[in-house]
Amino acid sequence: MTETLILAIESSCDDTGAAVIRNGQLLSNVVAGQAIHAEYGGVVPELASRAHQEHIIPVVDAALKKAGVRREELTAIACTKGPGLLGALLVGSSFAKGLAMSLNIPLLGINHMQAHILAHFIDDPKPAFPFICLTVSGGHTQLVLVKSPIDFELLGQTRDDAAGEAFDKIGKLLGLPYPAGPVLDKLAQTGDASRFDFPEPQIPGLDFSFSGLKTSVLYFLQRETQKDPAFIENNLADLCAAVQDRIVSILINKLRKAAKAQGIRQLAIAGGVSANSGLRQAMQQLQEKEGYATFIPDFAYCTDNAGMVAMAGYLRCGLVDFDDQFMVPDPRLPLTAS
Ligand code: KG4
Ligand code: ZN
Repeated sequence: MTETLILAIESSCDDTGAAVIRNGQLLSNVVAGQAIHAEYGGVVPELASRAHQEHIIPVVDAALKKAGVRREELTAIACTKGPGLLGALLVGSSFAKGLAMSLNIPLLGINHMQAHILAHFIDDPKPAFPFICLTVSGGHTQLVLVKSPIDFELLGQTRDDAAGEAFDKIGKLLGLPYPAGPVLDKLAQTGDASRFDFPEPQIPGLDFSFSGLKTSVLYFLQRETQKDPAFIENNLADLCAAVQDRIVSILINKLRKAAKAQGIRQLAIAGGVSANSGLRQAMQQLQEKEGYATFIPDFAYCTDNAGMVAMAGYLRCGLVDFDDQFMVPDPRLPLTAS
């Protein structure tokens, strides 16, 4: 087999990532976050593009250095093609194109949502095909039947907010800083979820909805803070625990439903929200109490990173044609497109 040595670049949202993978073995995975967005309570696309421009050269240099690889040794460059913020994708893909052209090596345009799923092939244990993956991030909530590294079927998705968005928006109602997901998770660990019960939406099939939950939390908080202005402050950990519990039960119930409908026993989670402690515990329970084989990614591969783009690039080699300089980033790239 010929050697593959791929440099991957991820720049879909607010993290600039670079990674190097040799024959499927990840050698380095470097991420630079963008603290600037916290001041605005959400990602500001123009600021994200500018920060990617500042970070991309040092991040790529660090990834190559950490891997002990010289540019001239690379056999291909992979970069995120979409979905994501157009300006952010353009910075990464333009850099990748320039580097590929200067080294005279091929380019691999990678679907960010497929890459989140394929992160499961970085470390052991790895799922076998076919398996079901629940991909939960700031922009997406998808139930995916994964048939091969290039064959994905969308079984269900959110009709409104994504799961990460639900964490972030409800966290904002509770006064938490952006992104609220990780902070809410930490507070939830010391809270009592049974003190409050937020409703589970009744959406038929395998689709999700989170906007009703957000509204019910909003109205509940408005009512309670009218009676006691310090209500949120005095009950913060319990509120976080109850919200997290409900988001996790919505996700797990649909994942179980998909598994039963497809007759599949291997279940995985991916994306930023797969870092959530409640969701990770619930997956563990699916394994221990219901006998499913569950796959939970290492924290480094949950939120956006280039390691997953590198793995997706490696797995695509030999299965599909390379891209070329005419590859165009697509902010709304569907899950099944490449
Ligand atoms: O996959 P990701 O890094 O970026 C997107 O492609 O969107 O996901 C980011 C999302 C944010 O909404 C963030 O709040 C959420 O993942 N997140 C979490 C946790 N860590 C990150 N949500 C709940 N609990 C966490 N521990
Ligand atoms: Zn992502």
